[in-house]
Amino acid sequence: MLTREGLLKTPIRHIDFTQHNVVPLVDAMRDMAFSARDLARAADIAERMTRDPECGIILCLAGSLISAGLKKVFADAVRFNMVDAIVSTGANIVDQDFFEALGFRHYVGEEKLRSGMFDAELRELHIDRIYDTLIDEDQLRICDDTVRQIADSLEPRPYSSREFIRAMGEYLQTHGVKSDCSIVYEAYKNDVPIFVPAFSDCSAGFGLVAHQHARGDAPKVTIDSAKDFYELTQLKIQNPVTGLFMVGGGVPKNFAQDIVVAADILGHEVPMHKYAVQVTVADVRDGALSSSTLKEASSWGKVDLAYEQMVYSEATLAVPLLLGYVYHKGAWKGRAARRWNRKLEPVGVA
Ligand SMILES: NC(=O)c1ccc[n+]([C@@H]2O[C@H](COP(=O)([O-])OP(=O)(O)OC[C@H]3O[C@@H](n4cnc5c(N)ncnc54)[C@H](O)[C@@H]3O)[C@@H](O)[C@H]2O)c1
Repeated sequence: MLTREGLLKTPIRHIDFTQHNVVPLVDAMRDMAFSARDLARAADIAERMTRDPECGIILCLAGSLISAGLKKVFADAVRFNMVDAIVSTGANIVDQDFFEALGFRHYVGEEKLRSGMFDAELRELHIDRIYDTLIDEDQLRICDDTVRQIADSLEPRPYSSREFIRAMGEYLQTHGVKSDCSIVYEAYKNDVPIFVPAFSDCSAGFGLVAHQHARGDAPKVTIDSAKDFYELTQLKIQNPVTGLFMVGGGVPKNFAQDIVVAADILGHEVPMHKYAVQVTVADVRDGALSSSTLKEASSWGKVDLAYEQMVYSEATLAVPLLLGYVYHKGAWKGRAARRWNRKLEPVGVA
């Protein structure tokens, strides 16, 4: 019989790229073929963008990456100054990273659960499933409610998601981080802005709905996604040379790419993103955004063609190799910290 204790037993452990020197492995892939060669070229581009003193690096995250064991990879990328801004889905930042920072964990689900045959039983037990990973739904509700408490504590006005996530970092500073690391907290400490353009489409949405319902007709906290777009565009205008490291597709990919066009609309001629790497499992035949190639993005005036590489791989395999490569090559050493949050505080945009 399935029990909560039996199911929520073995936590997902986050891979630590500092502990594995992948440089010889990735270098050996350079003269192979297919995805191995693509990955090695993407690693070269990621290293090049990190070494480019003019380049601001934007990390884009879709999918379910933090629950899958990639949290420390991204937190360390922030810590070691390999990233200047993050654009993500709410699932990664709130439901998964902030959730773990509150002291909760994701758990390894047995292989038999993947069939879906036990999902009704999981529902009875208040356990959510992401493919082979399990989550305690009751703990997720605490995460939702913590977002509500943060909203309740703020001056009622429109916020960019970046401002709200910074307040989440401040909450962690005050209440303590109850896990080994946190992207939200690392970004807070290093003034790295995190944008979640579809902020209500995750645990944060439940907290904000509860906040707005309780406020009724009184002034309330709202999320202004146009402000997010404006803020990120301001960063592009101030730091015209940019590189994108994209994991998955979805809203974060398009949002970060579009700031080139937004800058143009504001009357600033900025270059396309100079460097772009995307790791994805999507394939092009659906014509959708997640699968669209970076070459296609160049036809929209968003991504330059010289240094772009798609890597067709599931992210848990490719991302530790790519960011581990940049880390172990030391490309981040001596890199200037941009601390872009400071440029956007206190009122958001110039
Ligand atoms: N994923 C979740 O568990 C979850 C939970 C709560 C809310 N949400 C919300 O759902 C919305 C949509 O999320 P999304 O954009 O991540 O959608 P998504 O999960 O469909 O991912 C978008 C695309 O990214 C690529 N991708 C995803 N995971 C990948 C991986 N591991 N490796 C390689 N490529 C990968 C795929 O091409 C996919 O089509 C967001 O607003 C998010 O906050 C998601």
